[in-house]
Amino acid sequence: MPLTVLGIESSCDDTAAAVVTDDGRVLSSVVSGQTALHADFGGVVPEIAARAHAERLDLCVEAALEQAGVTLRDLDAIAVTAGPGLIGGVMAGVMLAKGLAAGTGLPLVGVNHLAGHALTPRLTDGIGFPYLMLLVSGGHCQFLRVSGPEAFTRLGGTIDDAPGEAFDKVAKLLGLPQPGGPAVEAEAAKGDPDAVSLPRPLLDRPGCDMSFSGLKTAVLRVRDQAVAAEGGLRESLRADICASFQAAVAEVLAEKTRRALAQADVPVVAVAGGVAANRTIRAALERVASDAGARFLAPPLALCTDNAAMIAWAGIERFRLGHRDGMDLAARPRWPLDQSAAPMLGAGKRGAKA
Ligand code: KG4
Ligand code: ZN
Repeated sequence: MPLTVLGIESSCDDTAAAVVTDDGRVLSSVVSGQTALHADFGGVVPEIAARAHAERLDLCVEAALEQAGVTLRDLDAIAVTAGPGLIGGVMAGVMLAKGLAAGTGLPLVGVNHLAGHALTPRLTDGIGFPYLMLLVSGGHCQFLRVSGPEAFTRLGGTIDDAPGEAFDKVAKLLGLPQPGGPAVEAEAAKGDPDAVSLPRPLLDRPGCDMSFSGLKTAVLRVRDQAVAAEGGLRESLRADICASFQAAVAEVLAEKTRRALAQADVPVVAVAGGVAANRTIRAALERVASDAGARFLAPPLALCTDNAAMIAWAGIERFRLGHRDGMDLAARPRWPLDQSAAPMLGAGKRGAKA
């Protein structure tokens, strides 16, 4: 009989529950997003998020169990995101998980949200250790060498904005809708990636650290110059800016991935996070992998962005190592995967969104 585990996720603006088995089957994965609730505020409002999680978590769990065709009695453990994240939301999930564990007698396993992302290629593709993971989302950007379910070495990351955050800010600057990534990508398809000269931050420095806030400032300057000179932004220039910005992000990510792969000395590079949906960026990373003779893996998008199946899976990996948590499991706003790495200045500025 395979292990069957319920996963619960509530660390940012998605309330999620899922049922996963240890032979890699996702029996259900329910995600209830909150984009509309935060739309008027230009970012995730922690109090609104926490309240929405508290209201929706049990409904998500109920739906996940029903869709999986199981009851609480069929489960072997309950896995829950215990950090890092917006503390009110993490607490709501941890409290529900503790209640369920206490009521059923099932073991409780606290999971690091970033470990959930980082271990996803093992759920989707069954790969072994070690491998390189590039996590690129709205709040995070880091290279991890993954050598075990609890063994992560951080090779580098952003020193300021995450790439998704940069896409979102550029979209805002250019009057495009949120989330900015898909909007900028669609616009970029109509533009010329060589039309506007933009910087390639930190490419001249060794190592795998990245920076994206200067790119956004450069876009602001180009926009303001156009507005001053022409009284507005021509549609064709807007498309050119998007294409040039996207090309700059892709080039930086590709070059830093090339270095991270050389340093990590692994046969596989995998990506996770919403930015991995970008076709130009994905193609650039695929080229880097094939040049290095490495396999490139991008899990299906629904398992790349925030979800609870990855939490259930990371819980399974920890459970198999014998890890169990008690009723003293704490919700942690910060929880670096690689405890030995120096904390990154400004990383995840938009909150603990990962
Ligand atoms: O992983 P995710 O769903 O949420 C977290 O940040 O946790 O990632 C969302 C981010 C947003 O910033 C969004 O603009 C970006 O991923 N994104 C994209 C694309 N689709 C989503 N960025 C670039 N190109 C895309 N096609
Ligand atoms: Zn995440």
